[in-house]
Amino acid sequence: MLEGILLAQQTFKPRADNVILATQPKCGTTWLKALAFAITNRSRYDFSDHPLLTRHPQHVVPFIEIPTAGSDHHAAVIEALPSPRLLATHMPMSLLPPGTTSCGCRVVYLCRDPKDTLVSRLHFENKLVEGFSLSMDAAFSMFYEGFSPYGPFWDHCLEYWRESVARPNTVLFLKYEEIKSDPMQVVRKLAEFLGVPFTQEEESSGAAQEVVKLCSFEKLTSLQVNQVGVVRPRNNVRLSNSVFYRKGEVGDWVNHMSQEMAEKLDSIVQHKLQGSGLVF
Ligand code: A3P
Repeated sequence: MLEGILLAQQTFKPRADNVILATQPKCGTTWLKALAFAITNRSRYDFSDHPLLTRHPQHVVPFIEIPTAGSDHHAAVIEALPSPRLLATHMPMSLLPPGTTSCGCRVVYLCRDPKDTLVSRLHFENKLVEGFSLSMDAAFSMFYEGFSPYGPFWDHCLEYWRESVARPNTVLFLKYEEIKSDPMQVVRKLAEFLGVPFTQEEESSGAAQEVVKLCSFEKLTSLQVNQVGVVRPRNNVRLSNSVFYRKGEVGDWVNHMSQEMAEKLDSIVQHKLQGSGLVF
């Protein structure tokens, strides 16, 4: 991860019309990629013959710092993409390549209840490497102490949250739970933020509903591309296409975490976010 971040910091040239989707792993990156891709490309593709019907959402929006499968020249691949580029990152805001936040490009940040994020992460990790198994206790201890893939959960959220408060036209802060409870409203908000609001005509023809339907957990998991194949082979890790989908629910942590763990996690998160205005 560090190598990818360092390389991105040295090579990534931000452009003012970039749209950057920022998340911590397991907060709904795949969903956000699908939604943003479908929204920004809706005039190019028909919903009945859409790239998302045959391509994995992880493939249609590349990460800035994570090489695409089979590419030794990731920086060149990213640089060669035509504007406006739709890109993703797991990097914390303070590690984004120089100029990314000051060049005027828009950032959409998606976060999720930390308990569900942790449970999702645990399942994901345990599917990645054969024979590897992390217990809930061990995963909980690491998460609680701030050992998460891109830094402590709360710091990651807070950096983007503060920027979204300071510059709401540049950083849009979303929560997974918010999309689950009212996807239509979020899709409209996202389109507005990205400068491509739904027109009256599109509203009448149900374009926003089409986006929500195409990107729904049910639809995506029913497609062959999201059931078989591999997204990014990396060392001894094979990221199968299906590993990015599990339950897609809010509150699944109750089935995997004790009440005591949940209270402990809620309390540290509350403490770390105190005074910021951000609550889970
Ligand atoms: P669960 O493990 O709780 O089911 P990421 O894309 O950041 O890796 O996050 C993966 C999580 O988002 C998984 O959560 C996955 O099931 C969920 N997810 C993926 N696609 C989704 C969609 N279209 N709608 C809702 N949740 C989705």
